[in-house]
Amino acid sequence: MKLLASVLTAAALAVPAFAVLAADPVPAATAPAATAAPAATTPAAAPAAASVKGDAPAAGAPAGVASGAAPAAPTAAPPAPGTKPRLDLAQGEAKFGAVCAACHNADGNSTVPAQPKLAQQHPEYLVKQLQEYKSGKRKNPIMQGFAAQLSDADMRNIAYWVTAKPAKAGFAKDKDLVALGEKIYRGGIADRQVAACAGCHSPNGAGIPAQYPRLSGQHADYTATQLTHFRDGIRTNSLPMTQVAAKLNDREIKALADYIAGLR
Ligand code: HEC
Ligand code: HEC
Repeated sequence: MKLLASVLTAAALAVPAFAVLAADPVPAATAPAATAAPAATTPAAAPAAASVKGDAPAAGAPAGVASGAAPAAPTAAPPAPGTKPRLDLAQGEAKFGAVCAACHNADGNSTVPAQPKLAQQHPEYLVKQLQEYKSGKRKNPIMQGFAAQLSDADMRNIAYWVTAKPAKAGFAKDKDLVALGEKIYRGGIADRQVAACAGCHSPNGAGIPAQYPRLSGQHADYTATQLTHFRDGIRTNSLPMTQVAAKLNDREIKALADYIAGLR
């Protein structure tokens, strides 16, 4: 009953989100291959002109956004793609459509449980993961191959393009497990010093931009695999998560993953 209610609420909420999307004048999204392709085939042209050097934090960008005051600014890029000269969202879209969409879906909402949804994920987190797949710090043979072919600019273009795609909600499946998952997610496990997930990933799983990734609605299979990999020392690119996962048993991991899938 409660689940159903939240499903309905989410469905209701989803409508305006999609309405906005449809109103957004980006016809390219429906036909990425045709128009975008020519530009993407000549990557040399873009960096040369756009001067990637702007990336250096202080150096060439004396603009107005001085001293660490508002690092949140990039998030505002999607509504007005033209305002951020350093980002090429069209290039990000073209590359995503040509390579990544095969597994992560055209709008970043993968439908395959082992392949994560990327839509609406914080761009800084996505870039970090791509860099670490490329360097081998996060080990995955499939993603290492794809990340190896991306430049820093590609990673940013893709990340800032896909973060603007609305995430599709997921669903929890097991009522009893969900209750256990919710308890740990919100309150941690006091006797074993497991910190509450909500403390870092926020109560609704939206995360905190730049620092803590969004989790809500992610496929339970993917989430469970990551928690198991953190625990077993297979994913070693985050000390806080290794420490959190170290004390979780399989049932707790399953419960958390199921709860997170239904979070919204
Ligand atoms: C053949 C399927 C496949 C393709 C193509 C693919 N990916 Fe992935 N991707 C995966 C799988 C599987 C994982 C989970 C790997 C793991 O467990 O670390 C993943 C994980 C990721 C993650 C980590 C997400 C997270 O929440 O931590 C990012 C980011 C990502 N992929 C981006 C990309 C980008 C960008 C491209 C295109 C350049 C791409 N992927 C192409 C299968 C694919
Ligand atoms: C101290 C802060 C902190 C706490 C508490 C915490 N996390 Fe995390 N979590 C992180 C950080 C930071 C990352 C990003 C790791 C990286 O950069 O690769 C992360 C990543 C993750 C990921 C990987 C996401 C992906 O897309 O691959 C999962 C899953 C996750 N956390 C689940 C949990 C769960 C479940 C709990 C509670 C049991 C929890 N976290 C508690 C900080 C935290």
